[in-house]
Amino acid sequence: MIASLKKLYDNRTSDKFATLTLPNGETIQFPMYSGSLGPDVIDISPLKKADLFTYDPGFVATASCSSAVTYIDGNKGELLYRGYPIEQLAEKTTFLQTCYLLYNGEMPTEAEFQTYRAEITRHTMVTQRMADFMKGFDSAAHPMAVMIAVVGALAAFNHEWTNVKSSRSRQKSAALLVAKMPTIAAMSYKYSIGHPFMYPQNSYGFAENFLYMMFATPCEPYRPDPILVKALNRIFILHADHEQNASTSTVRLSGSTNANPFACVSAGIASLWGPAHGGANEAVLKMLNEIGSPDNITAFIEEIKSGKSGRRLMGFGHRVYKNFDPRAHVMRNTCHQVLEHLKLEDDELFRIALELEKIALEDEYFVERKLYPNVDFYSGIVLRALNIPTTMFTAIFAIARTIGWVSHWNEQHTDPEFRIGRPRQLYLGSKKRDLK
Ligand code: CMC
Repeated sequence: MIASLKKLYDNRTSDKFATLTLPNGETIQFPMYSGSLGPDVIDISPLKKADLFTYDPGFVATASCSSAVTYIDGNKGELLYRGYPIEQLAEKTTFLQTCYLLYNGEMPTEAEFQTYRAEITRHTMVTQRMADFMKGFDSAAHPMAVMIAVVGALAAFNHEWTNVKSSRSRQKSAALLVAKMPTIAAMSYKYSIGHPFMYPQNSYGFAENFLYMMFATPCEPYRPDPILVKALNRIFILHADHEQNASTSTVRLSGSTNANPFACVSAGIASLWGPAHGGANEAVLKMLNEIGSPDNITAFIEEIKSGKSGRRLMGFGHRVYKNFDPRAHVMRNTCHQVLEHLKLEDDELFRIALELEKIALEDEYFVERKLYPNVDFYSGIVLRALNIPTTMFTAIFAIARTIGWVSHWNEQHTDPEFRIGRPRQLYLGSKKRDLK
């Protein structure tokens, strides 16, 4: 088991330097670090002494921390969780095994897994007060709005697990969050349709239990279809972590203030909600519905390319992947399997998606800019086939990403370089002036 990032600092070698010459002729030397994989990074902290800052809007060339959780090679289209390729994890593991791996650094033994599973399932239920708290929301509330509030409020119900300096407390709060997210998400859905909340079934697997809480009613027995359970398990694994993305960076920045984990994860959910990030799967479905027919694709693509509408092809492009998104490959196959199983191969939206993908992949605009389908291009179609309402898509992403958030948050608390995150700026405002 990986105990702390501190020990992994031995893997960081630094035998090279970069030199910067300032306009006044002064030079500054920066140590360069090599990690276990990926490009070298330049440690720019010596700039502090010269009272200079780097400028990198959107952090396109900035490594904000050291990490041992996830590795992405955007040129190769490679994604590794703790060294294991995403394709293998999606094929051979359950989501909870992947959760254990992400948090602890190694795949669990059978005994370790049973202990972990027992800890998660023991905490799937939320208190009745929490359920009552839900009733204050408008029934038309977006599930992500409800989740931001309810997950933040978990701190009010779990005071004893907010000591961020204790590794046991961090481990416990991480398990609570992983366990309760599906329950909170399903409750937000049930509340929106006016149905009674369904209690978690702890004998069911993680994905199966979520489908149960979403679709069962107290009136009749319900057991989710195993093929659909498998597909959801994959969606959870594929979305479990993705290195220092916007929501994980949000969690880390919040965590850097020593804020409690429930508040940090609530901040992560808020960041994930945006359509450029986790909200993309919902936006893809809206876009496909709007296109409506394969005949309208060409005109739609031309509109995007003209830039006049300011719109983007949702589910396309990625800040890091410039070849292909390996998660999209797995999701595309899952999409075929699910639609075949449900005899929905002729599904109109899926046909539009396939045609749109084909046209975009051959179009010079998308080729030149290295824009490929990302995981969310297909995940929305699978979720729709599973009968999940569109407004729940990003909530499902949040359920999956919780383990990534808490793994990074835990890691940052073991980092010898831990300190509050505090970026600077290039000030363009008014010079000092006096009030008249
Ligand atoms: N459709 C059309 N043009 C695009 C798209 C797109 N989806 N994405 C990027 N571009 C163009 C952009 O207009 C720019 O063109 P130009 O150089 O002519 O100005 C060029 O490609 C580079 O774009 P960028 O904004 O610098 O790229 P970025 O790395 O900042 O943005 C992105 C990455 C994912 C936010 C963006 O590709 C996007 O908005 N995609 C659609 C939303 C989406 O699918 N997001 C899900 C990401 S995967 C799930 C997750 O990890 O959250």
